[in-house]
Amino acid sequence: MALLEVSHLDVGFNTQLGSVQAVNDVSFQIKKGETLGLIGESGSGKSVIGMSLLRLLPMNACVKGEAFFEGKDLLTMKEKDLQKIRGERISFIPQNPTASLNPLLKNGLQVSEVFERKGHSKENSWKSALKVMERLMIRDPGLSAKKYPHQLSGGMRQRLVAGIALSLQPELVIADEPTKGLDSLTRGKTIEFFKHLEGDEDRAMLLITHDLDLAYEICDRLAVLYAGEIVEMGPAGELMDLPSHPYTRGLIKSLPKNGLIPLEGRSPSLLELPGGCYFGERCCHHKKECSCKHPQLKNSGAWQTRCHLN
Ligand SMILES: Nc1ncnc2c1ncn2[C@@H]1O[C@H](COP(=O)(O)OP(=O)(O)OP(=O)(O)O)[C@@H](O)[C@H]1O
Ligand SMILES: [Mg+2]
Repeated sequence: MALLEVSHLDVGFNTQLGSVQAVNDVSFQIKKGETLGLIGESGSGKSVIGMSLLRLLPMNACVKGEAFFEGKDLLTMKEKDLQKIRGERISFIPQNPTASLNPLLKNGLQVSEVFERKGHSKENSWKSALKVMERLMIRDPGLSAKKYPHQLSGGMRQRLVAGIALSLQPELVIADEPTKGLDSLTRGKTIEFFKHLEGDEDRAMLLITHDLDLAYEICDRLAVLYAGEIVEMGPAGELMDLPSHPYTRGLIKSLPKNGLIPLEGRSPSLLELPGGCYFGERCCHHKKECSCKHPQLKNSGAWQTRCHLN
């Protein structure tokens, strides 16, 4: 049985302009020890999927579908049961980690607090916090622990939030854009850190990222999102080397190492999705069928593609 089994996840937002259909019929599984990457352009629904699993979305969100974690549905279980899972068994590293740190609390205390809440003594919690910071490759943990978040570099702050999220050894980590906004040196250290995490056979990860190189290095499988739906999913290396969906091919061609060829056009409005293929208007292989019939995800072994051409 998979550790996480998401089926037919739909997320809409009620807005003054109408219903924004941010996630459409998304299904995937993550096994113990596996890392699944969610990739796609800005606004494709990556963060909304991550947050919906832990019910962190605002009140105007309407979430449908199932998300079974070890056999229990995260989307319908009682709030008090979810509280036992959130943070302890599934942790979330948010897209903007700095905003989740308390600027008035010393770094070490922000980590040790997690252990204190679990009933550890102050002294032992502080010792555990220092160990966590050392593992996170934070320079001079003893000194950094006594400083405030603004006194750390962006990369160290990012790793500190990751440390808080990981201190209780969760079985599943949802990491949202862990390399966003980092310079190349800090990015390198963060990748090293995530590689180390990925190597842990007891831990599964849902890695949400724009950073295709990171996804290639760390993920076992990738799911490509377009306008809130999965258009392709398969083993990471093969999918990046031989993508089959025209959108994935466009994304990969837009990488600097592949010539930086931009993907023309924009994704459709989530307020009014087209009846045919959502990518149709931007696709150079567009045919008549693509405008009138919405393609279904087709399975081919470990690979899934949503395209009339395949
Ligand atoms: N509270 C909300 N109300 C209305 N629409 C929302 C809300 N939150 C998200 N959305 C919409 O849902 C869509 C998906 O958003 P999401 O943040 O998941 O994108 P993303 O793929 O994570 O993008 P990025 O790569 O920029 O982080 C966007 O079009 C966004 O405008
Ligand atoms: Mg996001």
